Amino acid sequence: MALAGRRVLLVIGGGIAAYKVLELIRLLRGAGATVAPVLTRAGAQFVTPLSVAALAGERLHSELFDLTSEAEMGHIQLSRAADLVVVAPCTADLMAKMAGGHADDLATTLLMATDKRVLIAPAMNVRMWEHPATRRNLACLQADGVAVVGPDEGDMACGEFGPGRMAEPGAILAAIEAALGAGPLAGRHVIVTSGPTQEPIDPVRYIANRSSGAQGAALAAALRDLGARVSLVTGPAAVPPPAGVDVVRVETAAEMLEAVRGRLPADAAVFAAAVADWRVAQASGQKIKKGPDGPPVLRMAENPDILATVARMGEGRPRLVVGFAAETDAVQQNAAAKRLRKGCDWIVANDVSAGTGIMGGTENAVTLITDAGVEVWPRAAKAAVARQLAARIAAHLAGGAVA
Ligand code: C5P
Repeated sequence: MALAGRRVLLVIGGGIAAYKVLELIRLLRGAGATVAPVLTRAGAQFVTPLSVAALAGERLHSELFDLTSEAEMGHIQLSRAADLVVVAPCTADLMAKMAGGHADDLATTLLMATDKRVLIAPAMNVRMWEHPATRRNLACLQADGVAVVGPDEGDMACGEFGPGRMAEPGAILAAIEAALGAGPLAGRHVIVTSGPTQEPIDPVRYIANRSSGAQGAALAAALRDLGARVSLVTGPAAVPPPAGVDVVRVETAAEMLEAVRGRLPADAAVFAAAVADWRVAQASGQKIKKGPDGPPVLRMAENPDILATVARMGEGRPRLVVGFAAETDAVQQNAAAKRLRKGCDWIVANDVSAGTGIMGGTENAVTLITDAGVEVWPRAAKAAVARQLAARIAAHLAGGAVA
C-alpha cells in the first residue's frame, strides 16, 4: 500500500475525461490513500456527485459558499489537510485560472490557498493544448512548481488526433506516487547523462553531434515518475529538461565527467549522452582567422570515457550502470562487445542509420543487452521506451530482476 495514510485532494474539472477519474479514485483507494473530492460545476456536467462521493467514500465538496462546509471545515483547512492536490482533468480554462491566480469558485480558491504540491493532468482538444496561451500557462505553472502528468497523444472524443488526451489513471497514480515520494524508486538516486557535448575549437566554434537529448530527458522524467531523485547531467540539448529533476548543465565531455563524479554516489547511472569521442587537443583562445596559411589543421585528443570510468570504479560504483550504443551497422554484435569493453551492466543499443529517423527523432527502437541475453524491443515513442527502461531499473534495484 504505497499511499497508506496519504490524503489526496482531487479537483475534478469539466471535461469528457472526468469519467476516467472514477477509476483513478478506485486506484488511489486501492493504494491506501484517502481521497477528498472537489467537483467543479463544469465537472458535474460529466460525472455525478453521487458516483464520485460513493467511490471516494468521503463527503464531496462542490461550492465555495457552502455554509455547512465553511462551518465544519473551511476551504483553507481543506486545502491544507491534503498531502497533495490533484487536478484531473485539468482543462485549458482551469490551467489559465491557476496560472493567473484566479479564485472565483471552490476549486480555484483551494488551489490558491494550498501550501501543498499540486499535480495537474491536462485534458483538452489538441488545438487548445497547442495554443500559445496554453503553452504560456503551462510554462508558468511549471515554473511555479506544479507537476504535470500527460497529456497523451491519441484519438480524442472530439474526433481529432494528437496530444490532449488525459493521461491514463495508472499513469496519474504513478505521478501521484512520485509527487509523494512513494514510487518504487523512492529513496533512490539515479544519474542520467543526456544530450550532445560541445568541444570548442576556438571561442566561437565547436564540434558537436546531432543528439537532441530527447531520450535522456524522457528517461529522467520516467525515473522521476517512479519516485527516484534524478540528477540529469546534460550537454546543450534541443529538448528542455523535465521539471522535478536536478539539472546540471555542461558543455564538454570533461565537464560532464566532473559533473557525474560530483553527483555520486548513486544507485544507478544511465549514460544516454552522445559524448564526443574526441576534442580539439588545444582549443585556441582567440578566434582562428582565415589567412594565407590555408585552413587550420585540428589535432584531436581522446575524451575521457565517462561510462567506462564509472563502470570500472571500484568503491562507489553505482549498483547498476547502463550504457547506450548508437550504431549504424552490426548493432547487436557491436553493442554486446561494447558492454564487455566498457564494463557496464546493460547496454541499450539502437540503430541510428540515416534512414531510421531515430537520432533527433521522436521514436526509438532499442535492443537491451544484459548478462541474461538480448531483448529486442518494438519501435516506440522515446517516452514509452524510457518508461519501460525505468521500470526495468526499478525492478533490478528492488532485487527482483532477471538480468
Ligand atoms: O563508445 P560509444 O560512444 O559508442 O559509447 C556509447 C556509450 O558510452 C553511451 O552510453 C555514452 O553515453 C557513453 N560514453 C561516455 N563517454 C564517452 C563516450 C561515450 O560516457 N566519452
